Amino acid sequence: MLVVDLGGQYAQLIARRVRECRVYSELVAHEVRAEAVRARRPLAVVLSGGPASVYTDEAPRVDPALFELGVPVLGICYGMQLMAQELGGRVDRTGVSEFGRTELRTEPGALFEGLPEEQAVWMSHRDSVVAAPEGARVVAGSPSTPIAAFEDRERGLYGVQFHPEVVHTPHGTEVLKNFLYGVVGAPPAWTATAVIEEQVERIRAQVGRERVLCALSGGVDSAVAALLVHKAVGDQLTCVFVDHGLLRKDEAAQVVETLQGTFHVPLVHVEAQERFLGRLAGVTDPEKKRRIVGEEFIRVFEEEARRLGRVRHLVQGTLYSDVIESGGTDGVAATIKSHHNVGGLPAEMEMELVEPLRLLFKDEVRRVGEELGLPERMVWRQPFPGPGLAIRIIGDVTPERLEILREADAILQEEIRRAGLYRDLWQSFAVLPAIRSVGVQGDERTYAYPIVIRAVTSDDAMTADWARLPYDLLETISGRIINEIPGVNRVVLDLSSKPPATIEWE
Ligand code: XMP
Repeated sequence: MLVVDLGGQYAQLIARRVRECRVYSELVAHEVRAEAVRARRPLAVVLSGGPASVYTDEAPRVDPALFELGVPVLGICYGMQLMAQELGGRVDRTGVSEFGRTELRTEPGALFEGLPEEQAVWMSHRDSVVAAPEGARVVAGSPSTPIAAFEDRERGLYGVQFHPEVVHTPHGTEVLKNFLYGVVGAPPAWTATAVIEEQVERIRAQVGRERVLCALSGGVDSAVAALLVHKAVGDQLTCVFVDHGLLRKDEAAQVVETLQGTFHVPLVHVEAQERFLGRLAGVTDPEKKRRIVGEEFIRVFEEEARRLGRVRHLVQGTLYSDVIESGGTDGVAATIKSHHNVGGLPAEMEMELVEPLRLLFKDEVRRVGEELGLPERMVWRQPFPGPGLAIRIIGDVTPERLEILREADAILQEEIRRAGLYRDLWQSFAVLPAIRSVGVQGDERTYAYPIVIRAVTSDDAMTADWARLPYDLLETISGRIINEIPGVNRVVLDLSSKPPATIEWE
């Protein structure tokens, strides 16, 4: 299914929801020509919501021939209004806006099959359709929006003013399923197994009998990408795991054990801890730390690659959201961010990229990881910055300070997991500041570091809120850190949201 993007984040969410219904969907820019859409042979087209008003000059429009392709079209919010306007209906600002939860009353209609006649939906609009396209039947209304949904089964046109893709519309997924399975007749065939099969084939076709190189970071993306490539071309793949000594406790060992031990992926484990620490010695500026870790990583990786001789392909864990946000694919949503790291590793290596996750959203990568048998701990790992613990140690990164932070962080992780909160938190970690304070332990006065607990909830790291961790949990974490780690005599909690703070401390 193709989702035509008529404004920012709405379209991406629709595409994700459709995929959760096991139907493959992709985004296209609204400028796309109907001929290009036809060439993709979609089973249906969805027009997304968007912030514009259809009757203004700057309003994004679609090629009217989209409605003549012979496949069902579903318009959502702005998409519905655009359909109405293009097909002989009318849209107006009625003076009544709806934002938030609204009671919807439905008539029998394909989209509402099997659902209660009255249901709560989430609306967000100022304009309304005041006349449905000719031939379309109005199948839902709300107290202030009499035309909240229409359908024309003969021409395959469907429109809803509310947002079925958001969680605040409790029956939203069922409305989408009614469209996908009932109206379109699309099979729910997009499963992790199907993704794996398809990618394995693609990788084989791309790589042939050549060798492939993959850098592992310890995160879920590079691990899943590596496993897919290994499944496809076996030992033609070599993974390089550059251990910079800045990962959390036991993480490096787990990467090696899992990829090499469990999955028998050829793996070069480069123990470069001393090199990185050497270069970081005396460096306190956060951006300088980042630059050093980044540069050194590439240097080590290149050295290893050279040792392996001629390798033509490089695996990269680029995700679909990176592709969209970089405006990197023909016909895909407008550029939102340009700084994204698509194509990350050194350009001068002149290797052809193999990107088996390029079409996947993060939750799909996790499902594929689970299906491939990757351990829970790796599949559900919280985001972790590339420069690792170096940017969670304020000031000098020394082996002693790394050890303190690593142990404190391990206690924090263990207790958060034990409390069953790990997956609810976007990130949770310990920070070691560059100050010391006075304490008393036994009969002795101490002068030692505090540990900061940082735990946040977030959807995308752009904004975040500090997590309301239970007091009992905080007590356990604090007690254990202070008692078990020499060199720490105090634990404090970071109560800052983003903005104005950032998630990391450096
Ligand atoms: P901030 O601290 O800016 O972080 O709120 C937003 C998200 O980005 C991660 N982060 C990084 N990731 N290299 C990375 O790969 C970095 O240098 C870096 N700095 C921050 C951070 O963990 C959070 O998820």
